Amino acid sequence: MRMLPKARIVGTGSTMPQRILSNKDLEGIIDTSNEWIVKRTGIEERRIASKGMTESTTNLATRASLKAMEMAGISSGDLDMIVAGTVTADRQFPSAACMVQEALGAGNAAAFDVSAGCSGFLYALSVAGNAIQCGTCKTALVLGVERLSSIVNWEDRSTCVLLGDGAGAVILSSTEENEGILSTHLKSDGALGSLLYSSEGNSRIPEVLKCIDRKSFHLRMEGSRLFKRAIGCLSSIAREALLHNAPSEKDVEVLIPHQANLRIIQATAKTLGIPMEKVYTNLQRYGNTSSASIPIAMDEANREGLLKKGAYVLLVSFGAGLTWGASLLRWYA
Ligand code: ACO
Repeated sequence: MRMLPKARIVGTGSTMPQRILSNKDLEGIIDTSNEWIVKRTGIEERRIASKGMTESTTNLATRASLKAMEMAGISSGDLDMIVAGTVTADRQFPSAACMVQEALGAGNAAAFDVSAGCSGFLYALSVAGNAIQCGTCKTALVLGVERLSSIVNWEDRSTCVLLGDGAGAVILSSTEENEGILSTHLKSDGALGSLLYSSEGNSRIPEVLKCIDRKSFHLRMEGSRLFKRAIGCLSSIAREALLHNAPSEKDVEVLIPHQANLRIIQATAKTLGIPMEKVYTNLQRYGNTSSASIPIAMDEANREGLLKKGAYVLLVSFGAGLTWGASLLRWYA
């Protein structure tokens, strides 16, 4: 029997804004301390996009894409599909993916965004991976990109210390080998959407000025309720991905989790029995970049040579929606 094609990652890329905002800097803006932020989150600094358009969502995503395409050795004309996980596209429409398509000159691609909070990258990866498996697409660009600084309430110390901007990209390519994305598992619970939301102004309150006055376009979060759910959701979806493919937790060589909070990551790894030496973290330097966090971490781990050919790499995410997901990869290098 002929096996369905698989999607393997043949290139990764990432880019961060230049400006570093440290915890010490934040001490001068709001009532917080470096000690509180490090102890409760693990975050030491984050990158914040410049106010103009040089570090727009589209520009960051385009730069990350070019790096991934260079590693993959492909040109923009080879792309059949561009899927961007984001909640902070430069415009409500057209999509970030279409704007990246224009910037790259990728005229042969179908381009669209996926909105799934911090799980946006895994949702986008699933859509593009399935298109490759169906045979309707051969080469896809999958992005996780955010410019959360534009929707953060800089007076709310419980959220503004957590978030940062950045972009990560991967190139997926069709293969007949049993490697690449083995499976991706996604879950959502819309009933808990009120734990993390923004943009009340879109359709509920269309009068933009009212929205600005009430700051209702800002991100709002019930951190401790999310914290309690995150560990259970992340570990159960990770187990589902492992069970589906037979390997056990001890076979995982690298775990790349969404970078929201070091304590969530440590507790998830402990629940799964995966030692922290196998867990890639960079939230110390970038904070929580929502959908961008997994592809940025994957690109850094890849360029550091930590992802070996044939290794099982497990990706897990949790975020607004609520949404959560896991993807098990057999790394192709
Ligand atoms: N500096 C100093 N004190 C602070 C700060 C701050 N930046 N922020 C909150 N505090 C205070 C609070 O006011 C509170 O004070 P009180 O006890 O006097 O009322 C105290 O610290 C404890 O606050 P908690 O919210 O209970 O702190 P907690 O230990 O839960 O940590 C955090 C907060 C870091 C937000 C944590 O709950 C968390 O990481 N939650 C999960 C976030 C997450 O995973 N989100 C989903 C993905 S993100 C996305 O989709 C964009």
